[in-house]
Amino acid sequence: MTGADPIVLSLSVPLATVIAILVVSIFWIYGRKNGADSKLPPGDKGWPIVGSTFSLFKPHPATSIGDFLHLQHSRYGKIFSTRYLGKTLVVSADPEFNRFVFQNEMRLFQNNLPPHCKKILGEGILPFMAGETYRNMKSLVLGFFNSWQIQTRFLAEVEEAANRVMNSWRQKSLILANEELNKFFFNLAVERIIGMTPDDPEVEELRKAFNAANAGLYSVPLSLPFTPFSKALKARDFICSIVKREAEDRKLKSDKINGKENDLIWYCLKNNPSISMKRICDAVIGSIFAVLFNTQICVGLAMYFLGQCPESLQQLREEIKQKINYTDTTAKLTWDDYKNMEFCQSVINETLRFGNIIPVLWRKTLSDVYFKGYTIPQGTAIMTHIAAMHLDPSAFENPNNFYPWRWLAMGKSNNWMPFGGGVRHCCGSEIARMEIAVFLRYLVLNYDWELVEHDHPVALPSVTFPKGLPIRIHPLEEKTP
Ligand code: HEM
Repeated sequence: MTGADPIVLSLSVPLATVIAILVVSIFWIYGRKNGADSKLPPGDKGWPIVGSTFSLFKPHPATSIGDFLHLQHSRYGKIFSTRYLGKTLVVSADPEFNRFVFQNEMRLFQNNLPPHCKKILGEGILPFMAGETYRNMKSLVLGFFNSWQIQTRFLAEVEEAANRVMNSWRQKSLILANEELNKFFFNLAVERIIGMTPDDPEVEELRKAFNAANAGLYSVPLSLPFTPFSKALKARDFICSIVKREAEDRKLKSDKINGKENDLIWYCLKNNPSISMKRICDAVIGSIFAVLFNTQICVGLAMYFLGQCPESLQQLREEIKQKINYTDTTAKLTWDDYKNMEFCQSVINETLRFGNIIPVLWRKTLSDVYFKGYTIPQGTAIMTHIAAMHLDPSAFENPNNFYPWRWLAMGKSNNWMPFGGGVRHCCGSEIARMEIAVFLRYLVLNYDWELVEHDHPVALPSVTFPKGLPIRIHPLEEKTP
């Protein structure tokens, strides 16, 4: 080496490295604190590349918002920015902003589910659609799950099925509530949608296929043999093969289909004779998913919360007893009875608030969005945090308590959005509420129950009971009519 002092050189190399590290750190810290894009809501960008991905999806009790959100809220308020899978993400627990998002669906915002969900559920399900095709499909789904059908046919079907399941439990003392509820709501769904009754040997195979497809939605989308994702794709193929066979069958025997003239497949063919097999398949898969998993977990949560709050169980039981004529053993619940079960409605509202079945809804900006002095650039992912709204102490007194009575006093709340909002508001909120109420009616009149071992609903991110909600049931003396 010429012209270089070896001592200076030996000092300058580490010095240069230290300076380089310092410069990179300053830029990184500066970037983390949002200096570079100061019009975005404030926030911490997390680690390089992965951002806050792991913190955002760290499992936590469904009845809480988790440590990460807690920390970000206390630092930056109800709207903050972070990074998720290398991209900017705006997280909002602000009811005003969230309503603004839902009201501007398809204008300023669009649904933003991970692409692998499309492969499992099919691109023809409502959450992936927009424009004219969306409107046509939505009116088809709403037409099938219409109010009249709910009040007449579906109410009677759930009553019959709930009565059957209560009788079947008389042989048991221990049950895994998750599994029982999964079977109960799947049997209801498969009969209405594919026209198959629970005694059909294929029904159990189909139920397993739907559960495998559901597991694939929350897995890493790796198409290797034996991964949950590839099992989910196989499950979809199996479901579609059955749906196609059933649809072809209805086309061939359109005048004589033996009691299957009321299901969704028949309804799709009748209302749109040129509908493709793929579209029927997507409609069936989308509807069974919507009907099954959310309603099932809601009843599991209600059982869990009621079990821990004996006063609410007692009041629910009393209210339901008043609606039943004990002298008439064939008395059925009428729509008016159901509507008058005010405390039952409060239990459902509170379960939906505290259990946070769908904790977040994903959207993406379609153009630059201006809100309260912030500019959110086109293409930014938005996480509308429903659970954070539900657990906000400024909207709900003692939000960490299960307290159904709050709904008797306050009626409605702008912070309560378990069914979403705007044009994408849940098509099944009415039927879901009715099914939950009917199931609870039969349950509380027939049984007492307690948890066999500790289990707690966890957001993983979908809400689940890790141990399957194992409970001991005790039959009550008075039987339901
Ligand atoms: C307790 C049970 C349920 C809960 C908590 C629930 C919740 C939700 C939520 C939050 C959304 C909005 C999704 C978004 O904006 O991205 C939604 C949409 C939807 N739900 Fe439900 N749901 C339930 C039961 C049902 C049932 C029983 C049906 C059956 C008809 C159903 C059908 C749908 C459909 C078709 C959509 C898509 C609407 C659209 O994209 O326009 N849901 N649900």
